[in-house]
Amino acid sequence: MARILTGIQSTGTPHLGNILGAIKPAIDLANDPANDSYLFIADMHSLTQIKDAELLKNNTYAVAATWMACGLDVSRSVFYRQSDVPEVTELAWYLQCMFPYSRLGLAHSFKDKSDRLEDVNAGLFGYPMLMAADILMYDAQKVPVGKDQMQHLEMTRDVASRFNHKFGDTLILPEALTSKSTMYVPGTDGGKMSKSQDNTINIFDDAGTLKKAINKKIITDATPLEDPKDPDSSVVFKLYELLASPEEALKMADALRAGGYGWGHAKKTLLEALVDGFESERARFNALMANREEIDLALSHGADQARIVASEVLTRVRSKIGY
Ligand code: TRP
Repeated sequence: MARILTGIQSTGTPHLGNILGAIKPAIDLANDPANDSYLFIADMHSLTQIKDAELLKNNTYAVAATWMACGLDVSRSVFYRQSDVPEVTELAWYLQCMFPYSRLGLAHSFKDKSDRLEDVNAGLFGYPMLMAADILMYDAQKVPVGKDQMQHLEMTRDVASRFNHKFGDTLILPEALTSKSTMYVPGTDGGKMSKSQDNTINIFDDAGTLKKAINKKIITDATPLEDPKDPDSSVVFKLYELLASPEEALKMADALRAGGYGWGHAKKTLLEALVDGFESERARFNALMANREEIDLALSHGADQARIVASEVLTRVRSKIGY
């Protein structure tokens, strides 16, 4: 039985790239009875960027509803809001006191964000230590993460071993779990799908909105309808390939290569795959967003379970430090 843990930032409704790249694989792991899993919404990390109470709250609901709509079995995992377990900020403080200032300044994500964002606050700088606390707080053994989070995971291992070195074995060093989570989902412009690039596809949108995103945002070349086309150079095909069965994807690839099949046809097929393929998730998402009590109930139950483990680990840590 491995304890796995993952967190997702609540910066908005997760898009197709988040869902295929991170959420679905994490849900498969979480629902696997061989794992003991902790999943949480990192709404304290979001505060580094969002200072609007309503937005912060709504984003959390949207993220929670996404996980639930995409098939997370909340009775099998510990599913909670980070801010409902305030113990984590105490552990984050202890960890910050064990970790060199200079190392935090060198973090890729800090450098990237401090170049890009207007609000370069101290929370952004300490971010990796809060993330380390998220993980170490629950004795997590495996953490499914994307490539962009690998350095944070290394810092987590680093700070845990510094702590253990100073105070004796206390914290468990987690391992990164990559595999499927490194899946590359292109955005409408062909670059990696990312909220900051404004190239996302939201599977919960209605058919009309999805149609606009596909037709207006994905640029295709002007190869005449009858000419052969290269599927692999096209975002339309790359996205379709991620959603369709291998046979269906091959059918589109063959049709494009053969000629007489236009980008308009391919876009229509992609649209159908999005509209129909996520129909049940969309219905469940909308139902949950219309009845947030169900979300609150699931999250508060999760927080009660999480706090039991968190307070045990914190007791262990405090006594080692000398409190
Ligand atoms: N930093 C992660 C991200 O941006 C979110 C996160 C916060 C996280 N705490 C975590 C992920 C702990 C894994 C484990 O995606």
